[in-house]
Amino acid sequence: MKMFSIPVQCKSLHDIIVWVEQLFQKNNLYFGHGTDNALDEAAWLIAYCADKPVDFTDNDLGYVLTPEQREKVTAVLHQRIIDKQPAAYITGTAYFFGLEFTVNEHVLIPRSPVAELIAEHFSPWFDYTGWLNKSSQSETNKPLAILDMCTGSGCIAIACATVFKNANVDAVDISEPALQVANINIKKHNLTSRVNAICSDMFEALPQKRYDIIVSNPPYVTQSEIDQLPDEYHKEPESGLFAANKGLQFAITILQQAFYYLADDGIVVIEVGNSAQTLQQYFPDIPFTWLEFESGGDGVFVLDATQIRQYHAQFKNINNMAGDL
Ligand SMILES: C[S@@+](CC[C@H](N)C(=O)[O-])C[C@H]1O[C@@H](n2cnc3c(N)ncnc32)[C@H](O)[C@@H]1O
Repeated sequence: MKMFSIPVQCKSLHDIIVWVEQLFQKNNLYFGHGTDNALDEAAWLIAYCADKPVDFTDNDLGYVLTPEQREKVTAVLHQRIIDKQPAAYITGTAYFFGLEFTVNEHVLIPRSPVAELIAEHFSPWFDYTGWLNKSSQSETNKPLAILDMCTGSGCIAIACATVFKNANVDAVDISEPALQVANINIKKHNLTSRVNAICSDMFEALPQKRYDIIVSNPPYVTQSEIDQLPDEYHKEPESGLFAANKGLQFAITILQQAFYYLADDGIVVIEVGNSAQTLQQYFPDIPFTWLEFESGGDGVFVLDATQIRQYHAQFKNINNMAGDL
């Protein structure tokens, strides 16, 4: 078995991070589950082994790791380089919207570009005045009800509840183990009174109510795309990635059901990633608003309630084209 023993001359946090960065670069790893480069990934993992915070300071760089911590580095390097475990699963934590989330192999590692939109209060797509205009703050300030469909770790639901202090958020997933993680995160962020984890196959077990915002990062990856993904993705639950109907299975269900669940002045925000082109091909007349993000990422669109009503027949009709899809 290949062992990754730290060279004796590498003693400090700094030395070991530099050595691990080079090791990562030589070993053909994929970065994209919380970091996008070897140095950040090395810093994250070695800080974890050294019991330092992920945002350690320059003062920590000279810290000399104990023998136990050096052994932990060896074990972690095996997990990361040989097993191809993403760093988030090794450490049990991921960062989204500036918040820390507990994660495990039952949930996708949070990375949706929707975080940026939440930070902007869904502006200008949602007419939000609540906390921007505190003098008019009242119980009626919207959004009051938000649905995070396909919540996984609960990251999007929790980020929404963090910015919209008046809102109750339903966080829906079909996976009980994923919802256990979501519930850990809901408690961690003191949101048990406003974020409600619901086990449901899409809308099936949902109460009949109207949401001001329906937001979703559902599975949207086709089988042929999954087959080509780096090993790190194959450590994530396939039920969090794969979608039938050319990646559109879940997005189309949301578009169809939004007619019944969206408030009159609400919006729907859905991430479909690389399946964006297929969606636009199937609905060439529908003016999806495709969002651009400063911090990268694409394949996220917005539709408002008027459009959801206007195009409902087309969304329903797509089932007749299922053979094509
Ligand atoms: C792409 S992950 C998104 C997780 C989270 N929203 C995020 O951004 O990290 C998709 C989630 O959809 C859930 N899911 C798959 N099929 C579902 C269904 N039929 N109904 C509800 N949730 C489903 C999976 O369990 C998974 O947690």
